[in-house]
Amino acid sequence: MKYDYSSIGFYTFDCLGWPVTEVPKGGGTIFIDELAMAVSGAAGTAAIAAAKMGLSTQAVGGLGTDMMGDWVLGRLRHFGIDTSALPKIAGTRTSSSIVLTRPDGSRPALHMKGATGEFYVDDDLMAQAINARVVHLGGVGLMDKMDKGRNAVLAKTAQATGAITTVDIFAGSKDDLPAVASVLPYTDYFMPSIEEAHALTGRNDLEGTTQFFLDSGVKCCVFTLGPDGAYYHHQDGTKFIIPAFEIDVHCTCGCGDAFDAGFAVALCKGFDPETAVRFAQATSALNATGLGSQAGVESFQKTWEFMNNNPTKASHYTVKAV
Ligand SMILES: Nc1ncnc2c1ncn2[C@@H]1O[C@H](COP(=O)(O)OP(=O)(O)OP(=O)(O)O)[C@@H](O)[C@H]1O
Ligand SMILES: [Mg+2]
Repeated sequence: MKYDYSSIGFYTFDCLGWPVTEVPKGGGTIFIDELAMAVSGAAGTAAIAAAKMGLSTQAVGGLGTDMMGDWVLGRLRHFGIDTSALPKIAGTRTSSSIVLTRPDGSRPALHMKGATGEFYVDDDLMAQAINARVVHLGGVGLMDKMDKGRNAVLAKTAQATGAITTVDIFAGSKDDLPAVASVLPYTDYFMPSIEEAHALTGRNDLEGTTQFFLDSGVKCCVFTLGPDGAYYHHQDGTKFIIPAFEIDVHCTCGCGDAFDAGFAVALCKGFDPETAVRFAQATSALNATGLGSQAGVESFQKTWEFMNNNPTKASHYTVKAV
């Protein structure tokens, strides 16, 4: 296969400010300490974090014909990512966010949807898009054209050629379920946040929510639990929680997407499941130490050392014995 990782879907330009506690009244100005730009999105963050940790990576998605698109392209190429399947789509703007990061690291955002809704992997592009050991769909629910059945075709074709498929989503309610549901039978690792998993199913328990997705055809659920860590539950019955690392959070923007990248690295390295989930969370933890997605992620070696030398904190979740 040509690439280790094909990261398909949601690519954004982010402008982030820190610390922000309020939007000034009227036309007022508030002074902040830090401002940063970042390529973000469930596919964009994952692509850069994976490339920084040594995976040969291609970006698949759409950008707009604006300055944000130029910047995103330049940044991806800077990290050696193949952008030949990330076209600028005429008549669109680049998906972009203004992120106002609070002192506690949480990050309300103003988002313009843009080209992510417009890109389409047609038959000519399909073979290239899935030519990777790990094929990642990042941002199912936001890819308007791809979400209408094409993502399912892509994931099915990827699995048929021997790729491992990983799927992360952008979902706020049951209304997003149809777009996600069509992909689930072709998903090896389903990796939403627990909030999104609950929103899609309308359930609020870990076991029942997981069972819903396993019954829908997913081989393995890997739910991120924010500061409570991550939950792994495979069809074969293997299930466990790994707590999150004890860190001083700067900005949690892209933590879930960085997790996806760390997990892809672990798959390519052949790590056992527990090490994979621990390594993915080390990637997230480093991500949270910087302002802007993947700013804190440097290399495989740094993430590996972080994983082995830092304490975790207690999780509020527990797993019932099998
Ligand atoms: N406050 C925190 N302290 C420590 N670790 C954290 C914290 N928040 C997130 N993490 C780490 O990041 C991982 C992913 O976080 P989270 O569940 O918030 O993802 P997400 O909501 O999908 O984020 P994204 O917006 O990037 O999609 C967690 O499994 C955890 O390891
Ligand atoms: Mg997420």
